[in-house]
Amino acid sequence: MCVRVRVRPLIFVPVSFMIIMKLSTGANDVAARLNSSGFFRTQGLIGGKWVDAYAGKTIEVNNPATGEVIANVACMGTRETNDAISSAYDAFKSWSKFTAAERSKCLRKWYDLIMANKEQLGELITLEQGKPLKEAIGEVSYGASFLEFSAEEAKRVYGDIIPSPLADRRLFVLKQPVGVVGAITPWNFPLAMITRKVGPALAAGCTVVIKPSEFTPLTALAAAELAHQAGVPPGVVNVVMGNAPEIGDALLASTQVRKITFTGSTAVGKKLMAGAAGTVKKVSLELGGNAPCIIFDDADIEVAIKGTLGSKFRNSGQTCVCANRILVQDGIYDKFASALADAVKNLKVGDGFSEGVVQGPLINEAAVQKVETLLQDAVSKGAKVLLGGKRHDLGFTFYEPTIISDINNEMRISREEVFGPVATLLRFKTEDEAISIANDTNAGLAAYFFSSNVQRTWRVAEALEYGIVGVNEGLVSTEVAPFGGVKQSGLGREGSKYGMDEFLEMKYVCMGNMS
Ligand code: SIN
Repeated sequence: MCVRVRVRPLIFVPVSFMIIMKLSTGANDVAARLNSSGFFRTQGLIGGKWVDAYAGKTIEVNNPATGEVIANVACMGTRETNDAISSAYDAFKSWSKFTAAERSKCLRKWYDLIMANKEQLGELITLEQGKPLKEAIGEVSYGASFLEFSAEEAKRVYGDIIPSPLADRRLFVLKQPVGVVGAITPWNFPLAMITRKVGPALAAGCTVVIKPSEFTPLTALAAAELAHQAGVPPGVVNVVMGNAPEIGDALLASTQVRKITFTGSTAVGKKLMAGAAGTVKKVSLELGGNAPCIIFDDADIEVAIKGTLGSKFRNSGQTCVCANRILVQDGIYDKFASALADAVKNLKVGDGFSEGVVQGPLINEAAVQKVETLLQDAVSKGAKVLLGGKRHDLGFTFYEPTIISDINNEMRISREEVFGPVATLLRFKTEDEAISIANDTNAGLAAYFFSSNVQRTWRVAEALEYGIVGVNEGLVSTEVAPFGGVKQSGLGREGSKYGMDEFLEMKYVCMGNMS
């Protein structure tokens, strides 16, 4: 079901123009600039054509900082998705035959166009997602880097020759594209989570149907427009959005879709995995985390504060790799807690377009309510609020950067992803105790620890049951390293040379009668 659905008016007024008139002055300037940029799109992209939802339905996209309507975009479902799949299937026949160098050129051009429009894409991200403009522009560079990296990797998809045990045979392995890929992406990184999937998919020779989040479709549509301008052929990149269950079901049911790649909640990831079983598709899942951030007594406190702030408060706490539990050793606990409070109270909260703001709004009211519920549960079980702990005076979906102490692993806040600007402190005594608390979760995406002891560094890095470990560093994401989790945090890796394998099949060829 499409939420916040509106039926389009009968009189034709370009939808995007019609709605930006309602915005506040600052946002209106931004929207007007975006409107003239040529990539402010509100229709879906199917087979190289921008199309409305077949039933004419639209869905509102709101600015999370104000609630204002930014645009009404096409609200699509089963029929549009099936057409997008058919287009991707047809396009696969030729795209997979392009040489690696040709695919590489398209990706490189796409990268160049995104970088050339970095500021405006950043503004679009701030407008629909809320993150501060500087951070949003940072996301554009981060997102673009996956395209640049994939353009380079496209040329390095090597096979293998296997020494044959029989004299008259020659054995080798070909790597070939999986086929049509369904890419389901989240709202917290509206650009980077698309390019991290679509870059390697296209480099490998796959075609894609993207379903962006209903909260942030405009960035996805802008990226698709730039892909088109970069010369990516019609049907290679398709975008449908709106009715998430219908789109998801159509992608899962289709025998033409050979792979689902998803970033989002663990609950939805499990459903997709189960749904993919019907047609035995490949799946890559980047799901929820519950990152421990361990501060040992021997840590450099300045490094630990900087790293913890970076990890915890990036995107207002709304990343899968945000520190979710901060475990602090007894000997450094008080000093660390007070230094963290000093740093956190200086974080400026506000509209992402305002100068100096480093903490934007949460994505919506439900996100704020979740933070409130987890905090209430923790406080009712003995946690103490050291800083913040309530909605911000700015109102709406702004929440105060918060620190709470006296956490234990039985509280909901230690078991669930907070996805908000709340740092939770837990005191521990020994290294073994810290590792045991850190690993006591079904999640296994990212973990961090801070220590100046080189032996401990190896020991702890090896003992943590996580796919990503930051040592004396809170910001670890990069296009050149494998991103992904273990346990219920997902399957597969994105980025790096390993990310390409997710979009490739191996074919073993045995040639006989060769003597
Ligand atoms: C995520 O939160 O899903 C991605 C974070 C990142 O790429 O660093």
